[in-house]
Amino acid sequence: MLETVKYLLGSAGASGYGSKSTAEQVTDGCPNLSSVTAIITGATSGIGAETARVLAKRGARLVLPARSLKAAEEAKARLASDCPGSDIVVLPLDLSSLSSVRNFVSQFHSLNLPLNLLINNAGKFAHQHAISEDGIEMTFATNYLGHFLLTKLLLKKMIETAKATGIQGRIVNVSSSIHSWFSGDMIRYLGQISRNKSHYDATRAYALSKLANVLHTKELAQRLKQMEANVTVNCVHPGIVRTRLTREREGFITDLVFFLTSKLLKTIPQGAATTCYVAIHPRLVNVSGKYFADCNEAWTSKLGSNSNEASRLWAASELLVSRDPKSVFDPLSAND
Ligand SMILES: NC(=O)c1ccc[n+]([C@@H]2O[C@H](COP(=O)([O-])OP(=O)(O)OC[C@H]3O[C@@H](n4cnc5c(N)ncnc54)[C@H](OP(=O)(O)O)[C@@H]3O)[C@@H](O)[C@H]2O)c1
Repeated sequence: MLETVKYLLGSAGASGYGSKSTAEQVTDGCPNLSSVTAIITGATSGIGAETARVLAKRGARLVLPARSLKAAEEAKARLASDCPGSDIVVLPLDLSSLSSVRNFVSQFHSLNLPLNLLINNAGKFAHQHAISEDGIEMTFATNYLGHFLLTKLLLKKMIETAKATGIQGRIVNVSSSIHSWFSGDMIRYLGQISRNKSHYDATRAYALSKLANVLHTKELAQRLKQMEANVTVNCVHPGIVRTRLTREREGFITDLVFFLTSKLLKTIPQGAATTCYVAIHPRLVNVSGKYFADCNEAWTSKLGSNSNEASRLWAASELLVSRDPKSVFDPLSAND
């Protein structure tokens, strides 16, 4: 109850920021980012677009991957007009396709750019059941597995950049508080919804993908520590924001839900605040493996803090990006 009142009032937490802080406010006074290169996925709209605008305003060079190059060029034009002199590269990337992720990384490497920041923000909330070209349920493929592979393939570059520049690298995974709505066996449910649509529930599939973002953060933080890499990884809940995320559910009911919950909604500049805070605020040097909401450290669900689940998901993800998904799911399917 007290937490809800604090949220509604926008009271500042330990960080000095709260639910009503905007991305510009939380980055005001942060060091200039002119020596920082950032990749931000999903920057063509919503929270990602605002994250890109604010980081460009603070001087960062941006690489914006997008599945529609037209949308990316339009985003680049908006950024160039808002932040004259900004350095922005756009490249094709469809996160639901593992081969597209590999192509993006090879194109990025051919640019010979450093990489300080990776913001895994792109996401979808799929109303209709769909399977990716790699045989994986589409929400999971887009929100989690594509980002898992992207991060894996960019990690060496991030570690090298941090070593060469002395600037700590940061990875930010954009999750959601909805991760806590998932209970049960993650890999088993993924196998069920990747085989057919009879078990598919759009909200449960979305929650699964967002729980995977949380567990990915936990396991990667552990691995980065073991490697003594000067790179951190954290994840965030941006808040509830009316964006194009609900594009497949537009209509009277969605309008009504947003109307009824309007007091709880954030604006897009408020929605991008936690990502920007975690991406660049000096207070978070060496902070890794944490979950943030309203620009303050927050609790994940019980499943989201389970190290065994994090290692299990990591092992399954390694298999899913390296061989036919059927060989991962079939052993689980005997009783389904
Ligand atoms: N809005 C909320 O209330 C809320 C709450 C909690 C968490 N989040 C999370 O915040 C993140 C940003 O969402 P948003 O609300 O800003 O939604 P949005 O406006 O729909 O933006 C989503 C972005 O992801 C991109 N994207 C979707 N599928 C992609 C794919 N296969 N490959 C590459 N890019 C893809 C979209 O590109 P296109 O232009 O090509 O579609 C778009 O740029 C998501 O991870 C979402 O889960 C949002």
